Amino acid sequence: MLKIENLHYSVNENGTKKEIIKGIDLTLDYGKTYVITGPNGSGKSTLVKLIMGIINQDEGNLLLDNIDLSTLSIDRRAKEGLTFAFQKPVTFKGIKVKDLLDIASGKKNNVGQSCEYLASVGLCAKDYIDRPFDDSLSGGEQKRIELAMALAKGGKVNIFDEPEAGIDLWSFENLTKLFSNMTDSINIIVSHQQKILELADEVIMLKNGQIERKGNLKDIMPFLNENKCQRLM
Ligand SMILES: Nc1ncnc2c1ncn2[C@@H]1O[C@H](COP(=O)(O)OP(=O)(O)O)[C@@H](O)[C@H]1O
Ligand SMILES: [Mg+2]
Repeated sequence: MLKIENLHYSVNENGTKKEIIKGIDLTLDYGKTYVITGPNGSGKSTLVKLIMGIINQDEGNLLLDNIDLSTLSIDRRAKEGLTFAFQKPVTFKGIKVKDLLDIASGKKNNVGQSCEYLASVGLCAKDYIDRPFDDSLSGGEQKRIELAMALAKGGKVNIFDEPEAGIDLWSFENLTKLFSNMTDSINIIVSHQQKILELADEVIMLKNGQIERKGNLKDIMPFLNENKCQRLM
């Protein structure tokens, strides 16, 4: 179980304190998929970065099976089983795709295994395993390779920030199939996409750094549309 208690995060903007996450409490269980949604700027990316330890909260606790994550670095959290796929992937100069898959899975994969991971995200493996993971790859390719890494790692807690971004050429069905195969872990997906929302055991709607609503998609749906209308108006 991942327990998030009274999480607060603020940044200093031109000398004034700007509160971005304003007291979030959540209990997330193994074997469940949670989709975090909400308007742009509501704090979704900030929340998942706090969970992974990319940034650190000002206040509050993060507990994974009673291990206090709050004081642990990103790498220690990764060792405890947290994986993270960024909204915008981070590229590494000089590292090949197959090396990244080895790092992610913590072992030397044979070609067959590496190919399997890449094939599951719709990439023809032989074209990619020896390529460097850098900006010579398109945004969509980087994103898919990052998803393949998350698969290779197979964490206890899998966090995906807008995984659909930049993969328009690859059918959603493949992406949703990927997620629905992650059955034992705690899966946290930031998304606005209907198909991904449909995978959620629980939808968590953020607004202004707080949880505005949570529940199953059916109950949340009317409010999602309400938000869309407000934005259009
Ligand atoms: N380092 C920062 N400095 C200033 N403002 C920030 C910083 N990080 C995030 N924000 C602001 O916090 C809000 C939430 O950001 P973010 O979590 O990225 O939103 P979302 O992912 O929901 O679109 C936004 O208004 C964003 O501009
Ligand atoms: Mg975001």
